[in-house]
Amino acid sequence: MQTEHKIILANSQQMPELRDSSIHLVLTSPPYPMIKMWDAQFATINPQIATLWQELATTGREETVTQIYDAMHETLARTWRETFRVLIEGGIACINIGDATRTVNGKFRLFPNHSRIIEHCKKIGFTTLPYILWKKPTTKPKYKGKGAFLGSGFLPPNAYVTLDCEFILIFRKGELRRFPPNDNDRYKSAFTKKQRDEWFTQIWDITGIRQTTSQLERRIAAYPDEIVNRLIRMFSVKGDTVLDPFLGSGTTVKLAIQNERNSVGYETDETLLPLVKKKTAQQSTTFKLEIIKRQS
Ligand SMILES: C[S@@+](CC[C@H](N)C(=O)[O-])C[C@H]1O[C@@H](n2cnc3c(N)ncnc32)[C@H](O)[C@@H]1O
Repeated sequence: MQTEHKIILANSQQMPELRDSSIHLVLTSPPYPMIKMWDAQFATINPQIATLWQELATTGREETVTQIYDAMHETLARTWRETFRVLIEGGIACINIGDATRTVNGKFRLFPNHSRIIEHCKKIGFTTLPYILWKKPTTKPKYKGKGAFLGSGFLPPNAYVTLDCEFILIFRKGELRRFPPNDNDRYKSAFTKKQRDEWFTQIWDITGIRQTTSQLERRIAAYPDEIVNRLIRMFSVKGDTVLDPFLGSGTTVKLAIQNERNSVGYETDETLLPLVKKKTAQQSTTFKLEIIKRQS
């Protein structure tokens, strides 16, 4: 089966290139709110966030921390709204997100990104389904938010639990997806019993995979092929179209090609294009790749 893939160099807060109800599965990992490496990007996409950071530096008002966090999630929610529009009835959205811990305004705290996204998506109209916890390689426990336990690491009560899981949130638009009886593509997309038992559990212990990724992929927090492969196989059928509104290095497109799904990816950072091309090249199935630069 020849598949078609479009990479659109544009902001996914608006996706005029896509018709309503034209996407079967959304699979993505956005920039994570309150993780330092994404601060500049949030501030570029929403300049109000840059102003709020400056305000916090001069006033030290706690309320401003909440405003920054709210604004980051509202920035992402614009894409979640477009995602809802373009999904078909019964289409699934999988969002990989990590919570953040950070010392802001002199106070170490948790920013529970996963719960914010669930709340936004619920308001948009999605049905929330049980999520997956992706257990990542453990980093050292934290003491007062400052890295490894120091000498008093064995004394209660001032140490913090380490965040060693990320979330794969799963949502559905509308009612269950319907297929004609004995739909050929659906039957050809079946998984094995072993795969079903392994994939449809809540904790995925997928460790060590990142060691095989390049420095650039690590810089943009590319997710492992195995996660994307499973989610594509679990929630779409051959010939479907998968959308990634935060494409990064192109992992979603690569696994869509391998699994005979069509795909569309949005990405604002054009410097990633060579990496996307490299990642998607040399696949064993036949496919067409189109790169579109939106004219503003
Ligand atoms: C966490 S990375 C995605 C990594 C990706 N899953 C991979 O495997 O490489 C998020 C990406 O979203 C892009 N991005 C952020 N905001 C965007 C927006 N509004 N529209 C399109 N792309 C955006 C960033 O440039 C970044 O490459």
